[in-house]
Amino acid sequence: MKRIGGYEIVGSIAVVDGKKGSRAVAEEILRRHKQVRSVYAKEEGRVGEFRVMNLRLIAGEDNAFTLYKENGCRYYVDLKKVYFSPRLAHERARVAADVKAGERVLVLFAGVGPFAIPIAKKTRTIANELNPEAVNLLKKNALLNKVDLEVHEGDAKDALKRYKADRIIMPLPHSAHLFLADAFKALDVGGIIHFYTIVERDNGLEEALEKAKIYAHCPFTLKNWRVVNNYSPAKIQIVLDLEKD
Ligand SMILES: C[S@@+](CC[C@H](N)C(=O)[O-])C[C@H]1O[C@@H](n2cnc3c(N)ncnc32)[C@H](O)[C@@H]1O
Repeated sequence: MKRIGGYEIVGSIAVVDGKKGSRAVAEEILRRHKQVRSVYAKEEGRVGEFRVMNLRLIAGEDNAFTLYKENGCRYYVDLKKVYFSPRLAHERARVAADVKAGERVLVLFAGVGPFAIPIAKKTRTIANELNPEAVNLLKKNALLNKVDLEVHEGDAKDALKRYKADRIIMPLPHSAHLFLADAFKALDVGGIIHFYTIVERDNGLEEALEKAKIYAHCPFTLKNWRVVNNYSPAKIQIVLDLEKD
């Protein structure tokens, strides 16, 4: 068997790092994974206001719309129109397992719903998203999974003015800190914020905590944290679970 580098599979689509995206690699992926119908190379950078992947077809059908399964739920995804990464599956399961029935949960930056939909199976959940294409898929995915999910279309800042919550999920790692003060205002005392951020690999926890302290404008206790994934050779994505004091 040929050795080929890392790639991700989302339903019927394989996404390869642009530098490794040769025709030979794509054909090997198609041979190995019978469910894969399209192989795209992910070029550097992201496209448009919603920073969707910059994809170049290297083999198979040019169709970035697919059905993806994760943690017992199903999602329609269009990789050319919405942000999506399967790399957070474990983290999404961890957060959903922590939620208790009766909580009011607000999922900001919800995308097509992979955090919000499993949580909506347990408790009252509101999902906020700005990208109209993602909102459309989020609504379809709520129906597909038969969950009662309230969808708020618009900027997260507006959602934070409108709703009160016991738990707020903030998976926008480059700029979630800019929404942190408003999130703490929308949270009741004892509530939890899952704050995602990108930090240097060395001293990442200290850097993330410092950022939270600067931007929260509110006292909190760090309940838990973990490294979510590698962002680049020098940087990682980390999550802090913060309880409002
Ligand atoms: C990193 S993606 C996370 C998507 C999803 N939670 C997931 O895990 O796949 C961030 C999402 O936030 C949305 N977004 C960006 N800025 C926003 C804003 N100011 N208010 C609401 N949503 C926003 C983007 O369209 C994108 O879908």
